[in-house]
Amino acid sequence: MTNIPVPEDCGAAIDTIRMEWGGRLLILGHHYQDSEILRHADLIGDSLELARGAARATAAERIVFCGVRFMAESADILSHGQRAVYMPAVNAGCPMADMADITQVERAWRAVTGLAPDWLPVAYVNSSAEIKAFCGRQGGLTCTSSNAAKAFEWVFNQQKRVFFLPDEHLGANTAHDLGLSDTAVRIYDPRAWDGGLNAESMKDARVVAWKGFCPIHMVFSPIRIREIRRRWAGAKIIVHPETPKEIVRLADAHGSTAQIIRYVAAQPRGATVFVGTEAHLVRRLADEHQARGVNVQMLTPSFCPNMAKTNLRNLLALLREWPDAARVKVPAATAADARTALERMLALG
Ligand code: 13P
Ligand code: SF4
Repeated sequence: MTNIPVPEDCGAAIDTIRMEWGGRLLILGHHYQDSEILRHADLIGDSLELARGAARATAAERIVFCGVRFMAESADILSHGQRAVYMPAVNAGCPMADMADITQVERAWRAVTGLAPDWLPVAYVNSSAEIKAFCGRQGGLTCTSSNAAKAFEWVFNQQKRVFFLPDEHLGANTAHDLGLSDTAVRIYDPRAWDGGLNAESMKDARVVAWKGFCPIHMVFSPIRIREIRRRWAGAKIIVHPETPKEIVRLADAHGSTAQIIRYVAAQPRGATVFVGTEAHLVRRLADEHQARGVNVQMLTPSFCPNMAKTNLRNLLALLREWPDAARVKVPAATAADARTALERMLALG
């Protein structure tokens, strides 16, 4: 893409192009994007809301996804190839999604179902299209951090057990939310022989969770939480469920980005709330709630470098040039099976 000269007023130029496109263009922005990007978004949301938005966007010709690649892939899959999906920064990936590749997952599936047959795969949407397609083919589904509990219940209601990937922590936290003991959750480590599982340890397992994680949510510590409890009596702490269970259990609440936003909005004037998730969102919440006297603080500052790859310059360059290299297109056969898994999730409501 051509480099946009600085100090061009990218925001105004984006507004002009945006107006020309009208309803033929839908710009989606994840909560972790910078506010200057979200100002241009038609829909701002968490992964679930944006997937729903992409599925509903039948009037649009093009979708621009300001987020990371797995989200744009889901938008492409859910738009049945009818709308072209683009990213301002196509190299914005997700290290957690990269922690499970399809060859490893198929090997793990053979190992797990070889020990007992009653498993269904559940993939966090933070995963590749191939992993979602695998779930679709095997009778499973996807989930987001908003509806993971519903996805697990969907599996349990079929008298099956959950093979969850790629986030160990969302898997363990969701199992705990549903009242399962820690011993009902086993971790599959793709680097260990047979994943580190054996027939004995699997007997009481209800969930096997892939040993993957989000680096952005690994920085919160019990020491910091104890310090807050000591120094800020009455302050609330909320974290994203990608955070390890030891931290989640010390916090007052946990939830997806949309749930965090609602939690902060429900705090009364004078409250202080520490938020453990990506820093762009926390900074915006702090700005938005300052005027009504709610003090929003970062639990520990943590930025997602991939979310930060989208900026006004590459957004403007995309809207001017629409290069093929910026298009996100999942191969048709993979998309068909992945759509099955995503649509099973959307049907959960
Ligand atoms: P949400 O599902 O809460 O939007 O989170 C997506 C994500 O990437 C969190 O790291
Ligand atoms: Fe991936 Fe974590 Fe960034 Fe979310 S915050 S996109 S899980 S690296």
